[in-house]
Amino acid sequence: MTDGRPYSIVASAHANVALVKYFGKRDTALNLPAAPSVSITLKPLNTVTRLGFADGDADLVLVQNKPADDKFTRRVSEYLKLFRTMSGNTSAVCIHTENNFPTAAGLASSASGFAALAVGAAVLYDLRLTESELSALARRGSGSAARSVCGGYVIWRRGERSDGSDSYAASIAPPEHWDLRVLVGVTSTGPKAVGSTLAMEQTRTTSPYYGAWIDRTHEAAREAVDAIEKRDFEKLGDITEQSALGMHAAMMAAAPPIVFFKGTTLDVFHLTRQLRQNGVGAYFTCDAGPQPKILCQAQDAAEIEAQLRGFPGIVNVIHCVPAGGATVQRTA
Ligand code: PMV
Repeated sequence: MTDGRPYSIVASAHANVALVKYFGKRDTALNLPAAPSVSITLKPLNTVTRLGFADGDADLVLVQNKPADDKFTRRVSEYLKLFRTMSGNTSAVCIHTENNFPTAAGLASSASGFAALAVGAAVLYDLRLTESELSALARRGSGSAARSVCGGYVIWRRGERSDGSDSYAASIAPPEHWDLRVLVGVTSTGPKAVGSTLAMEQTRTTSPYYGAWIDRTHEAAREAVDAIEKRDFEKLGDITEQSALGMHAAMMAAAPPIVFFKGTTLDVFHLTRQLRQNGVGAYFTCDAGPQPKILCQAQDAAEIEAQLRGFPGIVNVIHCVPAGGATVQRTA
């Protein structure tokens, strides 16, 4: 217990960064992706969520020790209906969730957040679920959360069924398979201008490049799995940069156009290419926010991190390594 509330479960999940991006839904209500995606689950980016049954009828949600706003509390309550329906237990819950990194700034806080909530709520409501079922449930909270349930190198398959029961993530390889690093360059800690769901829908419905983006993503996911299995860093790096730029290109061609990059984001992309020309293996990626992320191998990480730390416009660097999947424990 942290604040006197009757928490009985503590769940934890790491964020993930997609090398082959998810950007476009085939079903918005169920968060079903139009194409597969491939990611690395990463520490130290982490969410810890405590859960217990509440005394009253209303769900109580605390984020970083403060009551969540109404919008977020409603989103969580709506999400928890899935667990209440499955278990037949309609009790309200109290939840305290904490991230060790900035929320909603393109740092995948919804991924670790909903993965932790999914595995925690499943135990609280006494549902005995497989990893695939937990991943599919996490997906309902936020698409990319499906991947954070699993550890290491992960693929989230598109699935074919309309109910989404075959759209869940699975590990391709455990964290120890390959000591890759992701260096997150923090340019700003404020919330992002457009949420990812809105950005995806605007891109799907208006971008002339959307179809090409999705077609390429199917191939890219197959190629990325192969590159991970063979530990082919150059191949994985090329796919990673192309996927990130392809996603942003599709967004930039939407109406109205969506631009997440800041000047610093682009400058770090050029720095990364410069490093490569100088023989240092570095590849960039970027999600629905301004933070550039550099993928590299362990032996080059210290040198790249030092360059990124000294780079104008970068206020912090988070050095990430592959992590295990979501965990949950009963504390009472
Ligand atoms: O999980 P969502 O709905 O926030 O989508 C996240 C999508 C990207 O971060 C932009 C790409 C990805 O695959 O993580």
